[in-house]
Amino acid sequence: MKIVGGPSSLNLAQKISEELGVQLVKIRVKRFPDGEFYVKFEENVAGENLLIVQSLYPPQDSHLMELFLILHTARDLGAETIRIFAPYLAYSRQDRRYLEGECLSAAMIAEVIEELGADALYTIDVHNENVLKMYKIPIYNLTASGELARYFAKKGLENPLVIAPDDEDLAKRRAKYAAKVLNAEWDALEKRRDRYTGEITTFAKDLNAHGRDALIIDDIISTGRTVANAAKILRDQGAKRIFVGVSHALLLGDSVRIIMESGVEEIVGTDSVVNDYAKVSVSPIFVRALRGEIEQV
Ligand code: R5P
Repeated sequence: MKIVGGPSSLNLAQKISEELGVQLVKIRVKRFPDGEFYVKFEENVAGENLLIVQSLYPPQDSHLMELFLILHTARDLGAETIRIFAPYLAYSRQDRRYLEGECLSAAMIAEVIEELGADALYTIDVHNENVLKMYKIPIYNLTASGELARYFAKKGLENPLVIAPDDEDLAKRRAKYAAKVLNAEWDALEKRRDRYTGEITTFAKDLNAHGRDALIIDDIISTGRTVANAAKILRDQGAKRIFVGVSHALLLGDSVRIIMESGVEEIVGTDSVVNDYAKVSVSPIFVRALRGEIEQV
């Protein structure tokens, strides 16, 4: 087995190769002056079992194109099997036609990945489980909730309360999972997003948060509004410290300011997205999954 580190996840690929004790394949990826990508494998991969590590966070179109080129080249050069680890699976929001005539983007990505010859796909906390049904190859949706909770367990949280900032089934399962690791209580807030304006409304309810440390667990932070709304409710109810653990900290635009102003003490993301908030690695989750220990909510 050998690891191919895609440009979006070089450090993660390095970590995985060290944890597994297997070699990284040398590849070169660059851009031509007109912006097109160039990919070259610097060593022979014929007959190899490859693991390609490439997260698909923004700029997701560039990261997808890099993945497609690497995958195509690996297959073309005769790799025996190719498994992909894409912790952040881009385009997972468009899993069905919400309005007539819309593109099924998630299905298109699945078709291309399969057509290019991937044998299996591993991801972390996919935004929408319907996406998993679009793959004919095995797809494993792992969770980072446990690793995030273990990070916060070291902080000595006081009478902790884990909160899902919306009451969708998947969000509740993630919060419940983190709460189990922390041996804590959990609860969920009801949230609605206006389909046209994108505005988010979170409905306050009694969370019994007074004097307690709270941990908001979510899959994605995009604009930061979901987390900020939940944090404000917790703050208004007298929560002591408010932390956020998120699998994919995209943190677009003003999101960090919006979240910190809502009373959050610390935002913790994973190396699914490379930025200053990536304090937890998804590497052990993937390595365990390869050994058959699939961590799921
Ligand atoms: C909701 O569907 C997701 O679990 C996240 O809560 C959402 O994507 C976060 O988006 P934003 O940061 O824009 O509120």
